[in-house]
Amino acid sequence: MAFERTLILIKPDGVQRGLVGDIVGRFERTGMKIVGMKLMQMTEQLAAQHYKDHVGKGFYAGLVKFMTSSPLVALAVEGPKAVENCRKLMGKTFCTDAVAGTIRGDFGVSRGLNLVHGSDSAESAKRELGLFFKPEELIEYSRAIDAWSWNDEDKG
Ligand code: RTP
Ligand code: MG
Repeated sequence: MAFERTLILIKPDGVQRGLVGDIVGRFERTGMKIVGMKLMQMTEQLAAQHYKDHVGKGFYAGLVKFMTSSPLVALAVEGPKAVENCRKLMGKTFCTDAVAGTIRGDFGVSRGLNLVHGSDSAESAKRELGLFFKPEELIEYSRAIDAWSWNDEDKG
C-alpha cells in the first residue's frame, strides 16, 4: 500500500462557479490530508510543462486557453493510495461520462469544462507537485484525526 502525495487542480471553471469549497471538501472528507494549497494563474509556460504529454494533440490549444483563462486552485493531497483514490473521486475525464457520486458527475455537464485535474501515476504526481509547489510550500503536520483516518496497514 503506497502512502503518497498527489497534485489536484481545481480548474478555472471550478473557481469561477464557486465550487472550490465543495470540491476541496470531497477530498478532505475521505480523511486524506491537504499538505499544500494555493490560488494561482497558470501561465502558458507552466501549461506546456504540466501537459507535456498532450503537446501537439488536437485539443491542446483549447486546453491551454481554458487552463490559463482564469485562476485555478492547486492542492497537494496526502494519504494511502492518494493518486488512485483522488482519480476515483474525480470520475471519468469528461463530465458527460462521469457517474453520479464523482466530482465531475455531480458538478459538471460539459466534456472539456471538467472541473478538476488529478495526477495519473506516482511518477506524474512527483513531477507535477514539483511544478506547482516549492518544497517548503508542502507542509508536514499531524492531525488528531490521522489515527482515525488510516492505520499502519494503510501506510504499508
Ligand atoms: P486531467 O489530466 O485533467 O486530470 O484529466 P484526465 O487525466 O482524465 O485526462 P487527460 O487524458 O490527461 O487529458 C487532460 C485534459 O485534456 C482535456 N482533454 N480534451 N477533447 C479531447 O479529446 C480531450 N481529451 C482530453 C480534458 O480537459 C482533460 O482533463
Ligand atoms: Mg491527465
